Amino acid sequence: MAVIKRPVLFFVLATVFAGFIGCVVSYDRPPPRKDISVPQAEEFSSTSPQQVHVSLVGADKMRISWITESSASPIVEYGTSPGVYSKSATGSTSSYRYLLYTSGEIHDVVIGPLNPNTVYYYRCSSDSSREFRLKTPPAQLPIKFAVVGDLGLTGWTNTTLEHIGQSNYDMLLLPGDLAYADFVQFLWDSFGRLVEPLASQRPWMVTQGNHEVERIPVIHSTPFTAYNARWHMPFEESGSTSNLYYSFDVAGVHVIMLGSYTDFDPDSDQFKWLQADFGKINRGITPWIVAIIHAPWYNTNTAHQGEPESVLMKKSMEGLLYNAGVDFVFAGHVHAYERFTRVYNGTADNCASVHITIGDGGNREGLASKYMDPTPEISVFREASFGHGELKVLNATHAVWTWYRNDDDVSVAADTVWFTSLSSDPACKVV
Ligand SMILES: [Fe+2]
Repeated sequence: MAVIKRPVLFFVLATVFAGFIGCVVSYDRPPPRKDISVPQAEEFSSTSPQQVHVSLVGADKMRISWITESSASPIVEYGTSPGVYSKSATGSTSSYRYLLYTSGEIHDVVIGPLNPNTVYYYRCSSDSSREFRLKTPPAQLPIKFAVVGDLGLTGWTNTTLEHIGQSNYDMLLLPGDLAYADFVQFLWDSFGRLVEPLASQRPWMVTQGNHEVERIPVIHSTPFTAYNARWHMPFEESGSTSNLYYSFDVAGVHVIMLGSYTDFDPDSDQFKWLQADFGKINRGITPWIVAIIHAPWYNTNTAHQGEPESVLMKKSMEGLLYNAGVDFVFAGHVHAYERFTRVYNGTADNCASVHITIGDGGNREGLASKYMDPTPEISVFREASFGHGELKVLNATHAVWTWYRNDDDVSVAADTVWFTSLSSDPACKVV
C-alpha cells in the first residue's frame, strides 16, 4: 500500500465545502496516520471483479456488489462447496459520472434464498480466478455485530479492520463516513479494495455520513452520487423510498439505519417511514431494536457541538425512538468513543436508549480529543482513541457491548458492559 498525496484542487474543494457538508473543524486534532492507497492488483484484467461487498436483503437473501473496469456480466454463481456452483443469479449493472471521473461497471446481484449461518462460495462475472466466500447471519439469537464508524483510508483504518477481522462477527454496522473520498472519486475505489477482504465475507450494512454527501453547488448538485451507486442497501424491502434510510430484521434484532443528512422533520418522508416501520415491529420476533445515525444526539466532546443534524434530528425523532423502546442508538461523526447511560431528553431514564458514539474507525482527520469539563452525569465512558465495538446479543433479554481500543496496534477490551432488553423490563412500554 502506497502513501499518496491528495490532489491540491480537491483539497481546496474539500476545505471550501467542509462547512457546507457539516464538517466543522474547530479544535486541535492529534496527528493522524498517513493516508493509504490500495491499487488494483497487477494480475487483474479489466474484467476481474474487484471491490466485492455483500449486504443482507430480506430474511434469506444477500446482495453481491462488485466493480469491473470494463463490461462484464452481472452474474453470481454460488454453492456450499468450493468450486462447485450449483446456483446462479443475474442482476444489473450501472455506472456514474462525477466531474471528470467515470466509474467502472458497478454490478449488483441478489442471491438466495440462502440457509442461515451457512458458508457459501461464490464467483462474480464468471471469473474463475477469484473465488469468494461469505457466511450468512444466524436466523436465531445469538448474533454478534461489529460496529464502527468513520473508517476512512489510513493506517489506523487498517489496524481497526485487522481487529474486526479477527472477531468472527456475523454482521458489520457502519454509522456513516466510509471512504472520506470527499470529491476524489478514485478514493472510493481504493476504499472498496481495502474493505473487500472483510466486506466480501460478511454483510456490511451502512448508512451515510457527511463525507458521503459530495454535493458541489452548480458543479455537481446531486448528493450521494457515489454512495448510492456503490452501496445499495435493502431500502426497498423495508418500504423506504430512499437508500439513505431503511431497516431490516436479523436473528432477533430489528436494525434501523437512519439518514442524518436527508430530511428528518416530522413532515418528512423519513419521519413518516420511521413511524410506519415502528408499527410493523413484532417484539416477539425481534425483542431488540438497534438504531444507527451519523451525527450523535448525545455528545460531550467539544467537536461537532450544535450541528443541526444532531440537534434538530434529535428534537424531531427522539420521542419516536423513546416510545418504541429502542435499545441502542449508535452514532459516528465524532472521532472518539463515548457511551452514555440510558437517556431521553437529556435526562437519565431506565426505559430509554443507550447512546454510543463509535466514530473512531481510523479516518484521516485524526481524533477528537477535547471534552467538556466537568463530565456530565449521563456520560459513562469517553475516550479519544481509535477502535471498534462489538455487540453480542445473546438472547431475548441479555446483550453485552465491548469497545476495543486500538492500542499500539493491539486490540484491547477497554469498556465492557451488560444490558437487558427494554422489552423484557415490565416497567417499560415498548412497541
Ligand atoms: Fe462525519
